[in-house]
Amino acid sequence: MSWKRVCAVGDMADVKLKAFDVDGVSILIANLGSELKAYPPLCPHMEEPLEQSGLCEGFTLTCMKHLWQWDMRTGEPSGPAEKALLMYDVKQEGDDVLVYVEKELEYEYEGDFAEEDDDSFWD
Ligand code: FES
Repeated sequence: MSWKRVCAVGDMADVKLKAFDVDGVSILIANLGSELKAYPPLCPHMEEPLEQSGLCEGFTLTCMKHLWQWDMRTGEPSGPAEKALLMYDVKQEGDDVLVYVEKELEYEYEGDFAEEDDDSFWD
């Protein structure tokens, strides 16, 4: 893939977090005031949609589900967060917000035993 148009600059004027679909890839755009950042849409902890569970205060993003926090400028975790936010490159061209999507960024989640056969425990 390559640079893809996500939205107009004006679409982020009055919002801090908004998710957009870009050719089937969901991208979360954050408005930091002086710049825009782009992340996968789900919390790296337990797949909570950050558009709904995320609270932006200054440069800190907090997932209100279990209070993991990150520096939105770098994606680095703070407090109890154990994983960094993955990030896409973002740029503005005229009135367009573009994100570089080489491949969909996804977190690996631990503890998903839904498909594990209970009987295999005794093997
Ligand atoms: S799901 Fe976001 S902190 Fe747990």
